[in-house]
Amino acid sequence: MPDSSQATSPAEPNRALGTVAIRWQGHCLELLDQRLLPGEERWLALDSAAAVADSIRDMVVRGAPAIGISAAYGVVLAARQAGIDRWREDIAEAMAVLAGSRPTAVNLFWALNRMEQVLDRCASVDQARQQLATAAEQIHAEDLAANLAMADHALSVMTEEAPFSVLTHCNTGALATGGYGTALGVIRRLHETGRLHRVYADETRPWLQGSRLTAWELERDGIPVTLNADGAAAWIMARGDVKWVIVGADRITANGDVANKIGTYSLAVLARHHGIGFMVVAPSSTVDMSLDSGQAIPIEEREGTEVRQVRSEALAPEGVAVFNPVFDVTPATLIDAIVTERGVIERPDCEGMARLFG
Ligand code: MRU
Repeated sequence: MPDSSQATSPAEPNRALGTVAIRWQGHCLELLDQRLLPGEERWLALDSAAAVADSIRDMVVRGAPAIGISAAYGVVLAARQAGIDRWREDIAEAMAVLAGSRPTAVNLFWALNRMEQVLDRCASVDQARQQLATAAEQIHAEDLAANLAMADHALSVMTEEAPFSVLTHCNTGALATGGYGTALGVIRRLHETGRLHRVYADETRPWLQGSRLTAWELERDGIPVTLNADGAAAWIMARGDVKWVIVGADRITANGDVANKIGTYSLAVLARHHGIGFMVVAPSSTVDMSLDSGQAIPIEEREGTEVRQVRSEALAPEGVAVFNPVFDVTPATLIDAIVTERGVIERPDCEGMARLFG
């Protein structure tokens, strides 16, 4: 458990932007504890970078953009606590702790890198405290703006007769971002413009981001959602009303390969088989042009208990061996469109990626 106190105010429902799960209070970072949803809405107040790193590792906060935003605020907390004599070293050590929290979402390293560039320009701890706070708030605000822009871009490629249904995986909504959402932002916009019939939400084994978070978030925002077991996706696609599979990403490489929640690759194979569009929606902070292909992406493996049990309830023999990679890589050749705030890359490849990110 992160070292934290509990804040009492409830999560703020905001039908336009979704329920935001990150609140910066100037002296502490408040996170909606996503491990407890949908049963309980509890906010944790964190006052150190180590507590933020623990919260990222333990999934209090999750989703690539939300991880990056939280880490940026973690650096601000480190600056607040840094010693007068060795403030630069203290902040650098805290950044290393934050960088070790989760390996796959590149937004974490992107945000830390951006904070490091700000730190390098600071001449005193007071300056660092002030400028790092401004930078973290900018990262947070830019993420929300990117989500709104991506929804605009995405709708321009969805030319099917409306209303139609879509299928999504994991949770990519306001809970996973600075607000509105990436893939769920596009779905939110389809709903706002009367083009959405229904969202099918994969439950997303083993951590159940789909059932615990996406179903909760969409119901709260009045968007029609039907929850399904992951294994039902092929049958749902075969029935014909789903026109797009829309997912987020944790890292996109220079050739357009995409790491995302385990099960995404299977959906891309199924979508191609059924002639259904497959769209990835992610901000430019998720793009990693330093890696040539998805084979180089570090894929996080988590504890077997996530598969053997739900919370403390056993679902399998206690000692059974488990393979629990929590992300997979979808090859670019199975993707119809990557949508970022800079624009859309249809049928992504090295050339298309370089056009927007070269
Ligand atoms: O393990 P998680 O819950 O952090 O995984 C989240 C995902 O895979 C999301 O699809 C991705 O981060 C995009 S969130 C906008």
